Amino acid sequence: MVKVLITGGSGRLGRSVVTGFAAAGHSVVSVDREPLPADPAFGRVAQESVDLLDAGAVGEAMRRHAPDAVIHLAAIAVPFSAPEAVILKTNTMLAFNVIQAATDHGVGRIITASSPTVLGYGNPAGWLPASFPLDERTAPQPWNAYALSKLVAEQVLQMFAAAHGDAIRYAAFRPCYVISPEEWQGAPTQQGHTLAQRLADPALSAPALFNYVDARDVADFLAVLLEKMDSIENAQTFFVGAADALAVEPLATLMPGFLPGSRELAAGLTGSSPAFSIAKAEELLGWTPQRSWRTELTDTTTADFVAADSH
Ligand SMILES: NC(=O)c1ccc[n+]([C@@H]2O[C@H](COP(=O)([O-])OP(=O)(O)OC[C@H]3O[C@@H](n4cnc5c(N)ncnc54)[C@H](O)[C@@H]3O)[C@@H](O)[C@H]2O)c1
Repeated sequence: MVKVLITGGSGRLGRSVVTGFAAAGHSVVSVDREPLPADPAFGRVAQESVDLLDAGAVGEAMRRHAPDAVIHLAAIAVPFSAPEAVILKTNTMLAFNVIQAATDHGVGRIITASSPTVLGYGNPAGWLPASFPLDERTAPQPWNAYALSKLVAEQVLQMFAAAHGDAIRYAAFRPCYVISPEEWQGAPTQQGHTLAQRLADPALSAPALFNYVDARDVADFLAVLLEKMDSIENAQTFFVGAADALAVEPLATLMPGFLPGSRELAAGLTGSSPAFSIAKAEELLGWTPQRSWRTELTDTTTADFVAADSH
């Protein structure tokens, strides 16, 4: 059993991470400005309300709880949902405050959430990668404050790792578009529409290059990462995604219609192949996602795609 302090535990991803760790028998404290939902699923999760922009309060929480591990999820998680300067300042300072306080208090394992958006897709001025699938070697080219803030968070982590060597283990992860369990039954996704709508209209999923991941698979990934991060090279970054694309048709067919100039680059994305590779997580950690829209989706209110998927 480990004692894990999770920031942003009340969020879309955080809720699955705190329940996943608690169900596995770990001692979990969620530190968030917002309370956890009043639901028995969170009965074994301790929580504390802290504004993580307040470095002193973060240090106090770290001292009081003395966790073995910290997983930092709290952030403004939606690009352009606040003024650009606010997103940049908030996300970078949250990452700095949490990673610094955890380091200062001798927490042995520190993980921070980044985002695939660091790569720069969706740039209205144009974007093409050197190749598909995208992976951890793909050059980041952030074009908005959210993506930049996540790249800075990765760099903050690298900075503390450089300063502290291997005595403390650090890691960053880039979860794809997070689907929480209730969204498979028809609850609105982060962008407001349902998953069934997202599958029926590829234009909705194209801005994220059809990436997605079940929040419970991210929780499983984090459990494996925490267990194995002592034995891999320090300060690694991982993409965490589903093994398939959030699309009915192959991306080799869909991508060129949404990403001008990508026909040849995307030609290898046949069948259900996603645009983002998760090979590094599989090779270094032995983690693979267990869930796919093909097995999880129960909301079929916009289900024209189901028939299409059968060929
Ligand atoms: N949801 C996605 O598709 C996605 C994709 C890639 C990366 N991420 C990253 O994963 C993490 C979690 O995302 P999410 O979708 O669960 O976000 P969310 O918005 O649902 O949850 C974020 C949580 O952080 C908390 N928070 C924000 N500012 C705070 C502060 N100053 N002090 C204390 N708590 C604060 C909020 O109250 C909220 O509960 C974020 O770092 C996000 O950038 C999310």
